[in-house]
Amino acid sequence: MTTKYVPEPFRIKMVETIKMLSREEREQKIAEAKYNVFNLRGEDVYVDLLTDSGTGAMSQEQWAGIMRGDESYAGASSYFKLLNAGKDIFDYEYIQPVHQGRAAEKVLFGLLMGEGEFSISNMFFDTTRAHVELAGARAIDCVVPEAGDPTLRAPFKGNMDVEKLEKLILEHGAEKIALVIMTITNNSAGGQPVSIQNMRDTAAICKKYGIRLCIDAARYAENAFFIKQREEEFKDKSIKEIIREMFSYGEMFTMSAKKDSIVNIGGLIGIKNDGDLYQQIKGRTISYEGYITYGGLAGRDLEALAIGLYEGLDEDYLRYRIGQMEYLAGRLDEAGITYQAPVGGHGVFVDAKAMLPHIPYYEYPGQALALELYKEAGIRSCDIGSYMLGNDPDTGEQLHAKFEFTRLAIPRRVYTQAHLDIVADALIAISKRADSVKGYRITWEPPVLRHFQASLEPIK
Ligand code: F0G
Repeated sequence: MTTKYVPEPFRIKMVETIKMLSREEREQKIAEAKYNVFNLRGEDVYVDLLTDSGTGAMSQEQWAGIMRGDESYAGASSYFKLLNAGKDIFDYEYIQPVHQGRAAEKVLFGLLMGEGEFSISNMFFDTTRAHVELAGARAIDCVVPEAGDPTLRAPFKGNMDVEKLEKLILEHGAEKIALVIMTITNNSAGGQPVSIQNMRDTAAICKKYGIRLCIDAARYAENAFFIKQREEEFKDKSIKEIIREMFSYGEMFTMSAKKDSIVNIGGLIGIKNDGDLYQQIKGRTISYEGYITYGGLAGRDLEALAIGLYEGLDEDYLRYRIGQMEYLAGRLDEAGITYQAPVGGHGVFVDAKAMLPHIPYYEYPGQALALELYKEAGIRSCDIGSYMLGNDPDTGEQLHAKFEFTRLAIPRRVYTQAHLDIVADALIAISKRADSVKGYRITWEPPVLRHFQASLEPIK
């Protein structure tokens, strides 16, 4: 039975033309791009599911806000509007805008960790891991084991494995654990939610050992929507109430506002009440991002973000948003294609290991499927697997990822049901000839975050 598509709670006022190239043109473009989807031009892509980050469609209110943006270097009214929104939604005393999520990580992590220390997370996103490593520390993933089985339907597969967390703390020594990071939703595990109960348990362990807890909050609203649907205690609470509860368990957060706050650029650091830490953050923001009241953004961006923070909480919007994921996932269910199930908040993470069992992790099945999707229908997606994970920073050996996903990240308020059908049809067509899909080898790679820049070639 097909999952019913939840109609858009908006109508379309502005359009952007897209075109599908011919099969030969696509084959040529992807070869010229050295089989790296990041090297493709946007105009050569038909349905762009590379990321849900900064790719959303702003509302008429946000565009109106763009015109109202106050471009004062210091003390812009747009800054105060953003502060008020941030304090109101998250209930944190200090809110610092920055230009995007990784800027928040750069400003904050350098203050909190260094050589010989560790950070533990339910799962690090790639830039978050990179900033832990750039600060000199090491990143350890600690997600619940259910996350490792894409076909196992559990309500909160993004959760921290709290037993393992405590073991890791005892093994390394609490004084060596600089920061625990809770990523909501858990992007790398498939946009999977984290429950309030799990946040409570994680916060209790952090408190017991005197370790600080930071929330990586890129998809805070989608996480809250899942809590409302799946955690009994919260079924009658508003999204905003759930968000306040979630954030009450952290002491600080870093946020890429390019996701749930539906802006094309922007990020935040939030500090619950540590004024000394905030003072240091201000200093580093000025050095790395710009003056405190703009943090690397234009006044108009601050204004759009202040509005987007609230739009992201709208329940009709969230129902439609998660409904898109469920619709696409439903079509894959009918075709017997496996993905991280139940489907997450910002995309469908197709299990490339299951579809392409003949391709070993070091020939990058997630990347191979992403490339095949482009060749099949001009769809751009990305690998969330061993290709993205890269090499061990100490030994240089290729790491073996827990998952080999091809991520179809859905931009917010951008694509329609017909676009999602094209994606489903393409995947189904590929799955029928899966054994003819080949693996890839890397011919060049940079030392960090290699997947953005590496060159590849198909294995004959
Ligand atoms: N944390 C998480 C959980 C993320 O998903 C991202 C970005 C970041 C931090 C970094 O934020 O991009 O604003 O600097 N994720 C994007 C993605 C890029 O495609 O999943 P940023």
